[in-house]
Amino acid sequence: MPTLSVFGAQWGDEGKGKIIDRLSRGADLVVRYQGGANAGHTVVVGGEKYVLHLIPSGILHEGTVNVIGNGVALDPVVLLEEVDGLLERGIRCSPEQLSVSSCAHVIFQHHREIDQLSERWKGEGRIGTTGRGIGPCYADKAARTGLRVADLLDPEDLHTRLQANLAEKNALLEKVHGAEPFDIEQTFERYAALGQRLAPFVRDTGALVRSAWKAGKSVLFEGAQGAMLDLDHGTYPFVTSSNTGVGGIGPGAGFPPSRIDRAVGIAKAYCTRVGEGPFPTEDSGTEGERLRELGHEYGATTGRPRRCGWFDAVAARYALELNGATSLVVTNLDVLSSFETVRLATAYDVGGTRTETYPTALADVVRAKPVFESHTGWSEDITAVRDFGDLPKAAQAYVESLEGVLGVPISMLSVGPERDQIIERHGGLG
Ligand code: GDP
Ligand code: IMO
Ligand code: MG
Repeated sequence: MPTLSVFGAQWGDEGKGKIIDRLSRGADLVVRYQGGANAGHTVVVGGEKYVLHLIPSGILHEGTVNVIGNGVALDPVVLLEEVDGLLERGIRCSPEQLSVSSCAHVIFQHHREIDQLSERWKGEGRIGTTGRGIGPCYADKAARTGLRVADLLDPEDLHTRLQANLAEKNALLEKVHGAEPFDIEQTFERYAALGQRLAPFVRDTGALVRSAWKAGKSVLFEGAQGAMLDLDHGTYPFVTSSNTGVGGIGPGAGFPPSRIDRAVGIAKAYCTRVGEGPFPTEDSGTEGERLRELGHEYGATTGRPRRCGWFDAVAARYALELNGATSLVVTNLDVLSSFETVRLATAYDVGGTRTETYPTALADVVRAKPVFESHTGWSEDITAVRDFGDLPKAAQAYVESLEGVLGVPISMLSVGPERDQIIERHGGLG
């Protein structure tokens, strides 16, 4: 299998977990390189549902090495709970299957608290974060005040660095937010103990990935969130705090992006977004409501209802171009069964001017009105279909139209949450 980057091509929750699990069959290593426990990647195997937040989605395949790279914002409490949860369900999750970078930045309880408290100050500008401490942790990283996994393993170092970091955070909590400060000694004891439990998993993951690649092993990079939530290229400030696509792999995994053979975008056959921020094709009426109910569109991490709307080809073209996508996987095609008409936005009307190019000014995205194409829908249940030719003609035509407007081959279609509910096209992805 070639070296693959798999990324979200919309606003997250595109079904990356399912597709990465499926592709992991042929991968020696699956590597997370950004984001943290804000992610919720769902894999369903034989009716058993697994929601992975930090552990890569290759973990259900024995023999696959799962790597949490240095670019991940790592909450050790969540990670160890996730490890325990998988072990309880009989999934092997030892240091043989899971490696954690010594350079990943650590999310502490105070990051989570500041994340939640600071949202309250933003009023209209609130982002609707997952409250998992992602922004405050990456802010510390950029400010060079953060603590990394290696610091948890060295009690003396941990104590010194925590004291400096927490003294400042406590001042912020007390003086700005009027909240209770964290006890430095208690925090030290707690995270030193977490460090001891993490220790067997910790290594230089960049060296691990590069040497595996040099030895001819296949590597799959698992993106979290989606291109439209990218810190630099998404709908800033309504974004997450990391680079969510191929560009994040160099800094976040210590692997040269120039050695990545294929970049595979994942997109739903419609669109969803959770949290605040512009969403040009959002349908706040009955069709959006129907998409939400039929697609069970409730967040895998926070349980929040997802905002729903029709496929946005303007945003998707931008996402695919940014990541140099070599192909696309379209998920949740089954959710569209039973719509008489399926709509597809191919352009925006921005203040009376039609554009097919995604506008980078937030104000333009906010006022963009989608220009829709209407496609005939289908009513057949397609969840058991495994060959493209067996899909209703209208579903085939919709997929071909998508391919036409996006200019990228659609290599797989997903027609249900289960691992095997896949239709391969153009020879699939291996
Ligand atoms: P991720 O964050 O990109 O991994 O996506 P999530 O797991 O947050 O959300 C995707 C949801 O859609 C999950 O509940 C999946 O089980 C489900 N899902 C994935 N593919 C399909 C599909 O083809 N059809 C349907 N109906 N559900 C799917
Ligand atoms: P996966 O990997 C969908 C959204 C949040 C919020 C914004 C910032 O499952 O696709 P953050 O907590 O990151 O500071 O929140 O980003 N968000 C996601 N939306 N899927 C995700 O992950 C997300 N991770 C963050 O809702 O709008
Ligand atoms: Mg998700």
